[in-house]
Amino acid sequence: MKIGILTGGGDCPGLNAVIRGVVKTACKKYNWDCLGIESGFEGLILEGHTRELNPYRIRGILPIGGTILWSSNKGDPFNYPQEENGKVVKKDLSGRAMEKFKDLGLNALIVVGGDGTMTIANKFYKMGMPVIGVPKTIDNDLMSTDLTFGFSTAVETATYALDKLHTTAASHKRVIVVELMGRYVGWIALHSGISGGADCILIPEILFDIDKVCEHIKGRVKQGSSFSIVVVSEGAKPLGGSVTALGLDKSSGVERLGGIGEKVAKWIEGKVDVDVRTTVLGHIQRGGGPNSFDRILSTRFGYEAVELIKEGRFGRMVCLKGQDIESVTLDDAIAKQKAIDPDGSIVKTAEAIGICMGR
Ligand code: F6P
Repeated sequence: MKIGILTGGGDCPGLNAVIRGVVKTACKKYNWDCLGIESGFEGLILEGHTRELNPYRIRGILPIGGTILWSSNKGDPFNYPQEENGKVVKKDLSGRAMEKFKDLGLNALIVVGGDGTMTIANKFYKMGMPVIGVPKTIDNDLMSTDLTFGFSTAVETATYALDKLHTTAASHKRVIVVELMGRYVGWIALHSGISGGADCILIPEILFDIDKVCEHIKGRVKQGSSFSIVVVSEGAKPLGGSVTALGLDKSSGVERLGGIGEKVAKWIEGKVDVDVRTTVLGHIQRGGGPNSFDRILSTRFGYEAVELIKEGRFGRMVCLKGQDIESVTLDDAIAKQKAIDPDGSIVKTAEAIGICMGR
């Protein structure tokens, strides 16, 4: 047996731990060969983008962030940018990728990625490629798994940032608005906001009323707390407004979010007599090594992915259900985005302890 593994989409803490879990299980338990495909699916299009993996070659990667196999947002073989007569046109090169998979002598492919990467993996599965998915994203927005790896580390990073911002906000009696990642869902903002003691948390799932936010800040001043921390998820929208975007990503054409933090800061400054500063935490949330929770989850996902190959159960994605690692079909995996329930228990908890959710 020879299996391939690739990491697609944006990077995330824990990718290397998955690679390690796969390679160690495949080599040590089953004596299979492993091939790393570099730069996501691009490695199945371009020449010379593969490398043999074995326990020796992956030594020391468990605590390291990013991915030793590199990742790419522009490598969708079904929509691959190619230059033709001086112009860039999108071509379907999936047939070439299928050929390459066969030429490399692979019996199965493990694809580690988010919803976009899983969608591509599912298309290849339907063309006959034996594929297994492993869910990755700091956004935690995949419905079919209780958690994706990388989310816990991102929340931890954002929590530390909020701890630090607290001391400077309090010293200067300022409001600090902190914009966090998460795309169209507010998991990172809600979890780190609660664990970092935020005063307001604005998430895409609850359209916010800026007047409610300002009233909350004024109320805190009246009670003697002259500083506030306002956490804003990058996808948050004001009542009657829309998402704040930076335009489309050059390579993938995907919408890039960002800028709502600065807007919220301006609105607050216009309505409350207070100094306001903005911090955009950005890719710090994605960088660095995984925490212990994500190392364990990634390792378990890697192991289970190999077990699914052993059982011949292709077209599936490993997932976490409660404490157990299970699997779902790739069709189910990409069917629905996991959003926060505005009336669910976490939001209720936040509001019960006095956090303003902008409503
Ligand atoms: O999906 C992960 C994520 O970090 C989002 O939270 C964020 O909106 C996006 O990726 C940023 O993407 P890029 O690195 O392409 O700017």
